[in-house]
Amino acid sequence: MAIPSVTLNNGLQIPQIGLGTWPLKDDDALMVVETAIRAGYRHIDTAFRYGNQRGVGNGVRQSGIARDALFITTKLDGEFQGANRAIAGIDECLRQLQMDYVDLLLIHWPLPQRNEYVSTWKTFETIVASGKVRSIGVSNFTPAHLDHLQAETSIRPATNQIQLSPRITRPDQVAYGKKHNIVTVSWSPLGQGNDLLSDATLGVIAQKYGKTPAQIVLRWNIELGLVPIPKSANPTRLVQNFEIFDFGLTLAEIAAISALDTGVEPRVDSDVEGH
Ligand SMILES: NC(=O)c1ccc[n+]([C@@H]2O[C@H](COP(=O)([O-])OP(=O)(O)OC[C@H]3O[C@@H](n4cnc5c(N)ncnc54)[C@H](OP(=O)(O)O)[C@@H]3O)[C@@H](O)[C@H]2O)c1
Repeated sequence: MAIPSVTLNNGLQIPQIGLGTWPLKDDDALMVVETAIRAGYRHIDTAFRYGNQRGVGNGVRQSGIARDALFITTKLDGEFQGANRAIAGIDECLRQLQMDYVDLLLIHWPLPQRNEYVSTWKTFETIVASGKVRSIGVSNFTPAHLDHLQAETSIRPATNQIQLSPRITRPDQVAYGKKHNIVTVSWSPLGQGNDLLSDATLGVIAQKYGKTPAQIVLRWNIELGLVPIPKSANPTRLVQNFEIFDFGLTLAEIAAISALDTGVEPRVDSDVEGH
């Protein structure tokens, strides 16, 4: 079955579901990435901070799928913020991944107290021109950060990767992304597998479609035009999380899932623990 994709503001297509790879280390990342690609995944999310890019790259190669059929995202964190520092960062990512380019490079966290994300972004713009990355985006940026970035720089971020699940729906962030043509990617889309997945509303909808609550949550992301990147190291759940393109939710079901929002604040920079 063809996987739907979303068109980024530079014309590239991002497959609408990706595989999250935190907190997998190299050996597990290799196995999980290879299994995921064989199951049909074409979009993999990693980061310098995860310390698993060697495993991700090896998993990609062992899958036997051509590199240009895949969409690989990586991220650079604080040590690479500031003018020109990201050049060494992308070179190191490519060395670890053993790849010539990535499809998407993100600023992992804005770290506004350092006030370096604008100069970092200007360096990202030179990296796109060098051909080492096909698109650039951000992660964990608020609309205020994005307004500031867009006022000072030339290339609009292709994506903003943020914490988003039925319990943390971020309507302002999603609306900002739609208005500015910045695709919203959902991290921890399953709420890290916590009690969200035993929610009664999700259970009723799951039963109706013969799906699991996790599949309903991921399908809700698809219906909203979001790009979820669930992580599973379990081969059965890994495949299940991908089997969400043979059914659709009604508008009432989408609204009922969105109404599970608790108003809990998402994680902010000061909470960074290593994602
Ligand atoms: N940009 C950022 O700052 C940032 C921050 C955090 C995460 N991320 C990215 O987002 C990805 C996903 O986020 P996440 O890993 O925090 O959370 P998640 O994908 O919401 O949840 C992963 C957890 O849910 C379990 N799980 C997966 N599929 C399941 C299913 N079908 N049914 C029940 N449980 C299931 C997994 O366990 P098993 O492995 O045992 O299945 C794992 O414990 C990360 O891997 C990372 O790539 C980015």
